[in-house]
Amino acid sequence: MSSMQPCGMSDDDRRPPLNEVLEVAQHGLALKPKRLPSWLFYDERGSALFERICEQPEYYLTRCEIALMKEHAAEIADTLGSEVRLVEYGSGSGIKTRLLLQQLHQPVAYVPVEISAVPLRRSVRHLAQEFPSVPMQPLCADFSRPLRLPIPVRAPRRTVLYFPGSTIGNFENRDAAVLLRKMRNEMGDAGGILIGVDLKKDAATIEAAYNDRAGVTAEFTLNMLARLNREIASDFDLAGFSHRAHYNPMAGRIETHLVSRRAQRVKIGRVDAVFREDEAIQVEYSCKYSPQDFAALAARAGLAVVRMWTDARQMFSVQYLVRASTLAG
Ligand code: AVI
Repeated sequence: MSSMQPCGMSDDDRRPPLNEVLEVAQHGLALKPKRLPSWLFYDERGSALFERICEQPEYYLTRCEIALMKEHAAEIADTLGSEVRLVEYGSGSGIKTRLLLQQLHQPVAYVPVEISAVPLRRSVRHLAQEFPSVPMQPLCADFSRPLRLPIPVRAPRRTVLYFPGSTIGNFENRDAAVLLRKMRNEMGDAGGILIGVDLKKDAATIEAAYNDRAGVTAEFTLNMLARLNREIASDFDLAGFSHRAHYNPMAGRIETHLVSRRAQRVKIGRVDAVFREDEAIQVEYSCKYSPQDFAALAARAGLAVVRMWTDARQMFSVQYLVRASTLAG
């Protein structure tokens, strides 16, 4: 059975209102240092480029997470228990969701939460064909905001929020704790969070993942400027900027910047952004955690890690969190 929630968006309406994009760009480029939010990467072209990043030999995250799911999905399903309502943050058309749904015991519903209507519909269409007995309840929404989950067809034993891909790493520590706290509220007392977390490792391996030899990540980063040119008619000269991704070992994160190759002036609507040579726009953080770091982050959000699945080289982890209060005593 499948019941689609109306998305209130037309099929090709993937974008936030253009005045919001203009405001965000003007605001971010007036900051010192300049900064643009990473959600600006994900227009249609950016999402397609991200899919290609996941296939690059240097980008170990996706391969490691899929391998973990292949190896441990049955045990993960046992840990989650039967009659789970699985709520995925992101559209989840991918292999990881399938591996999990194949193993779950009598799932009550699958609720993908995704801001873009088109990938949401596509993912649900595919999954509904493959899992006809799992009720699909897609929710077109921004998962970083408070959610009103659809009423399940029958009462689940527990709600499990699935947040794969190390997307939590794109939130700075304080924002990550706020998001996990929000998730804690949404899952309820008996609920849990199944989350993909990239682990700290040698800087060269991490840096290579964000500087692939084929240049796909550089194209992805520069696409942010191409998107602004398309949507708000700014006049960035893409050849005037370069991609830079550097691992900051103290902060435990990749810091991605767009760096101006020369002194230049760029029109952003009615205002000009002025760049010095080598001036950088900070566009993304990708935080890496040790198991201890992540347990501490979870604790800040009132959560405890009850299981962690990782590979022999500790490249990546899939972790299961519950409310810390349910473990006390
Ligand atoms: C989506 N997110 C987890 C990716 C990451 O690894 O931070 C986005 C990305 N940016 C550059 N490469 C991949």
